[in-house]
Amino acid sequence: MLIIGSSNARVGIPLGMAILRRGGSALDAVEAAIRAVESNPDDHTVGLGGLPNVLGVVELDASIMNGATRAAGAVAGVRGIEHPISLARRVMQDLPHVLLVGEGAERFAEECGFEQTELLTPEARDIYLRGLRGEENTPYAGLAARAMVHRLAMQPERASGKDAGTVNVLALDQDGNICAGVSTSGFAWKYPGRVGDSAVIGAGNYCDGRYGAAACTGRGEMAIRGATARTIVLGLAQGLSPEEAGGRAMADLDLIPDNYFSTMNCVILAPDGRHAGFSTVENQIYVGMDEHSREVESWPRTYMPVSARGQ
Ligand code: GLY
Repeated sequence: MLIIGSSNARVGIPLGMAILRRGGSALDAVEAAIRAVESNPDDHTVGLGGLPNVLGVVELDASIMNGATRAAGAVAGVRGIEHPISLARRVMQDLPHVLLVGEGAERFAEECGFEQTELLTPEARDIYLRGLRGEENTPYAGLAARAMVHRLAMQPERASGKDAGTVNVLALDQDGNICAGVSTSGFAWKYPGRVGDSAVIGAGNYCDGRYGAAACTGRGEMAIRGATARTIVLGLAQGLSPEEAGGRAMADLDLIPDNYFSTMNCVILAPDGRHAGFSTVENQIYVGMDEHSREVESWPRTYMPVSARGQ
């Protein structure tokens, strides 16, 4: 039994591990862990308190994938739903589809009984407004103004120097099943309707019970272009270790030039419990617990800078 995730998953990892210890499924553990992150108003990259798009509206993306069957569900550009990870799970379980976006996803949420919630907290609104004004007392200043000019989004985790963009959670239950989940408010000040890798199966999330799971945080455009999560799991399928498979997929990103000083991070879990984490930023960690852990543990991510820029 094991549950790992991005550093901001720390608030949900003990909940997920408690479910695994009770004999619960990896699917339930991942959903519960991510719901705790989505409800954390201090995390400005996920769920309640997430930073909004350039018009000041919070739009959320999430996905979940069950390694036992490779069933997957995802939602993108969803407004007013505090727990998009649970909505993604309902898509997976109740519909013959994988991905619902915008109004359709919100309609489905209403049918499923999800409540509408105001997700833009006063603190997130202040950061958004300060960023628009380019004030210097926010880590997002300047970058936000540039995002406005170019009508492009930027990365709060890079601006703040923290690995806090998007949440990844991967779990392995006592039956040996693996599940992977991802949830995000996406890039702050993003263009309305922009969808990142978190909702794209194969990009920010992939899980195959035979070989393992991988999930990404960072600039989603990179993971979409590199099909990064799927690339990692294909490496595992070819017999590479999590460290080798992650290293190869991260190195592959070097061949994707981009102008936005993009960061990329991933976490990887094999069915035998081996795990790894990578980042294009130095000194980053990922976190987790196994059945013996008394508290959330952390491990360093392997540093892999992306060097190809500006093409
Ligand atoms: N990785 C999250 C996003 O690009 O939206």
